[in-house]
Amino acid sequence: MQVNIPLQNDLIIRAAKGEKTERTPVWLMRQAGRILPEYRAVREKMGGFKELVKSPEFACEVTIQPVDILGVDAAIIFSDILVIPEAMGLNYEMVESKGPWFEKTIKSRSDIDALIIAQADDLSYVTDAIKLTKSALNGRVPLIGFAGAPWTIFAYMIEGKGSKTFSLAKKFLYTNPVESHLLLDKITQSTINYLKAQVLAGADMIQIFDSWAGILSPEQYAQFSLKYIDAICNAITELPVTVFAKGAFFARKEMGALNCATIGLDWNMEIKESRLLIGPNKTLQGNMDPCLLYADFKTIKKETEEMLKLFGPHKHIANLGHGVYPDIEKDKVRCFVDTVKEFRF
Ligand code: CP3
Repeated sequence: MQVNIPLQNDLIIRAAKGEKTERTPVWLMRQAGRILPEYRAVREKMGGFKELVKSPEFACEVTIQPVDILGVDAAIIFSDILVIPEAMGLNYEMVESKGPWFEKTIKSRSDIDALIIAQADDLSYVTDAIKLTKSALNGRVPLIGFAGAPWTIFAYMIEGKGSKTFSLAKKFLYTNPVESHLLLDKITQSTINYLKAQVLAGADMIQIFDSWAGILSPEQYAQFSLKYIDAICNAITELPVTVFAKGAFFARKEMGALNCATIGLDWNMEIKESRLLIGPNKTLQGNMDPCLLYADFKTIKKETEEMLKLFGPHKHIANLGHGVYPDIEKDKVRCFVDTVKEFRF
C-alpha cells in the first residue's frame, strides 16, 4: 500500500512547482550506488547488479545512503533504465567494468512484433522497492522515480551495448523509419505503464533520462525523441516531471513547450541562454560539470556559488550536468551539496 506520510523536506517539490523556497534544493544524478564505498561494500557481499536491482531491501538501503551520507534533498530509487527493455522481452546483463550487454537485439519488424508492452506487474520489484523506501524514508525527503526516454531505450535495444556513436541505432532510424516508430511507440506505452505504477507506489517526482539525445540531429530529435517524451509528459500529470535530455541544446526551445515541470540542463548549456530559450515558466535543473568535483574544495565552492547566482533564487534545482562519476571522492560531493545548502540570496 502507498505510504502517505507528509514530507518534512519538500524543497524540491516546491521548486519544481515554481514556488518560492528558502534555499535552492540539491541532489545528484546517479547518487545512488556508484560513488559510495558504503554501496560497494554491500554490493560486494550481494553479487550481480541485476540481483541488487531486483532486491527491494537492497534497493531501499542503497537509495537512502546518499540522504544519510551526502545530505541531499531527495532520494532517487536504485534501479536502472534498462529494466524496461528487459520487461519487454530483451534480457540484459551488466558486465563488470564494461556496462550493459544484450544477448538479443532488435534487427527487424518481427523482432519488434515479438516484444510485449510492459505492464505494471512486470516491474513489481521496482514498485515494491519504492513502497519500502517511502516507508523507510518516513517523509525525510521526496523520492524520485525514473525511466529512460524512449529514444535512449531504443538505442540500447538496437545496439545491444553502450557505444560512443550509437551508429547502429541511428542506422535503423535512417533505414527503417516506419519500424522505428513502431518500436518507439511500444517503448513509450511500456514506459507510461511503468511510470504510472511508480506514481501509485508513492514516487513524489519523476525524471526522464534521455542520455543519448545529443547524438541526433535537431530534425531527428523532434521526430524520434521529443514526440515520445511529449506523450509521456501528457500521460504523467499526477506529479512534477523532469526531462533531462543530455546534449539536446538544439531542442531547448521545444522542451520549453513540454507538459512538464522541470528541464534538466547539461553543463554545455549556458544558463541565461537556456532560461531565455526555455522561457520563464519551467524550473531548471543542473548543471555543474561533473568534473568540477575533481577540483580542490575552494574551487568547487566558488564555481558552485557562481552557478547558483546565474540560475537565481527560484525555479532552480541544483545538480550536476550529468551523473556523478564513479571515482569522485565523497567529500568533494559533500562540498558541492553543502555549498548549495549554505548559500542564501
Ligand atoms: O541515479 C541514481 O543513482 C539511481 C540509480 C540509477 C542507475 N542507473 C544505477 C546504476 C539510474 C538513474 C540509472 C540510469 C541509467 N542507466 C542511465 C541514464 C543516466 C545517465 O547516466 O545517462 C543510463 C544510460 C543507464 C545504463 C547503464 N547502467 C550503464 C551504461 C551502466 C554501466 C556504467 C555505469 O556504471 O553507469 C549502468 C550500470 C549502473 N546503473 C550502475 C548503477 C549504480 C553501476 C553498476 C554496478 O554497481 O556495477
